[in-house]
Amino acid sequence: MKTPALITLALPALLAGCANSPSAEEQAAMAADARKTSGALIQKLGGELKASMSAKGPESTIVVCKVRAPEIAAEVSKQSGFEVKRVSPKNRNPAGVPDAWEAEAQASLEKRMAAGEKPETLDTWQVVSTPNGKVFRYAKALPVQPVCLSCHGDPAAIPDGVKAVLATEYPQDKAIGYAPGMIRGIVSVQRPL
Ligand code: HEC
Repeated sequence: MKTPALITLALPALLAGCANSPSAEEQAAMAADARKTSGALIQKLGGELKASMSAKGPESTIVVCKVRAPEIAAEVSKQSGFEVKRVSPKNRNPAGVPDAWEAEAQASLEKRMAAGEKPETLDTWQVVSTPNGKVFRYAKALPVQPVCLSCHGDPAAIPDGVKAVLATEYPQDKAIGYAPGMIRGIVSVQRPL
């Protein structure tokens, strides 16, 4: 039997534990939310990308990726309460560098894809402890589709006009050389607990 003193000591720790360690069910619910949030970004951005590509071609669509991608990510973040962004180990935007968790998440998704999982449904999540408390983190794979290739494909497949704009706007660009079926990057979603 515990003494009152021990209970007094243990209670705050237990309460903190409850607040900070969501159950598997709670995590699954957050993952469902995060999946919906990343889906909203992918759908909105993908829609604008495809519409602009067929109306104006790739060179004039670069602006959709440059301006609209961060705007849509900010809108979706505001609506969902998650922080939402796109990152890639071969980033084009200098700010698109993955942190350690994101890099590991993408590597694990790539392994699962190599083992036969469909790239469109690949995602993963985890509760991570940080110096500022626990954070729920989620990653969704962004598979390369044919529409991506005029801006992220083999350099030979990228139109000269696109190359010229990319060289001016993104002198540090690493985001070329992709083929369909590869994972271009992830949508990274997080929320402090
Ligand atoms: C019209 C050219 C164009 C097309 C088509 C395009 N992208 Fe991009 N992509 C860009 C540009 C430009 C950026 C940098 C955006 C920025 O400044 O944030 C970018 C950035 C990204 C990023 C963010 C990480 C990074 O490298 O900075 C991801 C992920 C990405 N693209 C995936 C895709 C996928 C997947 C497709 C196909 C469905 C696609 N892109 C199609 C031009 C394009």
